[in-house]
Amino acid sequence: MFDSDAINLGFSRKALVYDAYGAEHPAIQWTRGVVRAHVLSLCEKADTPLPLREGPGVRAKLLELNAGTGDDAAYFAERGLRVHATDLADGMVAEIRRKIETRGLHSALSVQQLSFTELERVTGGPYDLVFSNFGGLNCIPDLRPVAEKLPLVLRPGGYVVWVIMPPLCPWELAQALRGRFRVAFRRLRRHTRAHVEGAYFSTFYFLPSEVRRALGKAFSVINLQSLSLFSPPAFMDGFPRRFPRLFRWLTQLDARVTRWPVLNSVGDFFMLTARYEGGEGEPLRLSAFSPTQRFSVPKDGRRTRRAA
Ligand SMILES: C[S@@+](CC[C@H](N)C(=O)[O-])C[C@H]1O[C@@H](n2cnc3c(N)ncnc32)[C@H](O)[C@@H]1O
Repeated sequence: MFDSDAINLGFSRKALVYDAYGAEHPAIQWTRGVVRAHVLSLCEKADTPLPLREGPGVRAKLLELNAGTGDDAAYFAERGLRVHATDLADGMVAEIRRKIETRGLHSALSVQQLSFTELERVTGGPYDLVFSNFGGLNCIPDLRPVAEKLPLVLRPGGYVVWVIMPPLCPWELAQALRGRFRVAFRRLRRHTRAHVEGAYFSTFYFLPSEVRRALGKAFSVINLQSLSLFSPPAFMDGFPRRFPRLFRWLTQLDARVTRWPVLNSVGDFFMLTARYEGGEGEPLRLSAFSPTQRFSVPKDGRRTRRAA
């Protein structure tokens, strides 16, 4: 079950301050940098079975789920990718539209308002890469309704890069030493109530093994690494300002060790990359699980309710 109305309300309000918040936080900038470099490296890799960048004038096509304000989408569009950004929240979609206008990205970046549980509505596919950053996928209890529809939007040989919050974050656990027990242990229950700009909704934490299972046999995991493991996450916002050299050193430590077994699954986030090996005509494995989509966004942008 996910509460699309509360998510829409909270993140639409958040959209107004979201980019400024990210710009102020070295931890967010560092993490975004790692993720972006990884995505670009996949798109430029020469030895992939189906090279994503096929030649001059042919651009890799990236579908972004829960794109937020489109910060990453605009970044990739400005670096030669053809990006289709999607998000559920009115305010986030408006921010993406504003970026397209102000940065003149009409030919490289498009936007569509939808939930990632409705991939059958995505236009412009198939895509070379399906990207989700910074825990948008943690807003649903089960990843299968998203994973099972990936063959509708992803071409064989293409990739998913998903950045997801795991149940174990050492910096959050360490908050117990300061008596902040709610923060310290919230992930261990695997489910918590998130509070975003006056709206409350459920958040769920996933292990990489659960993401693998959701993706199924048609996908092979080619990279797994954690993000903000030894370097402190954004909520420790005073740390980089007070200890800039130590913060830099910890990010360098992260860069060395976050692919190691066990360490690759623990941190503020993990980034899992999988290649879609499935061929054309492969049947969709839609599970009995209902994604509890409580609304759909028709093409004219008006929202209509559907039975849960
Ligand atoms: C923490 S923000 C991350 C935004 C962006 N990916 C980034 O890197 O900054 C989470 C985003 O997920 C979106 N979201 C949550 N549930 C969603 C759903 N079911 N379908 C599509 N987007 C969703 C929210 O509207 C919000 O923009």
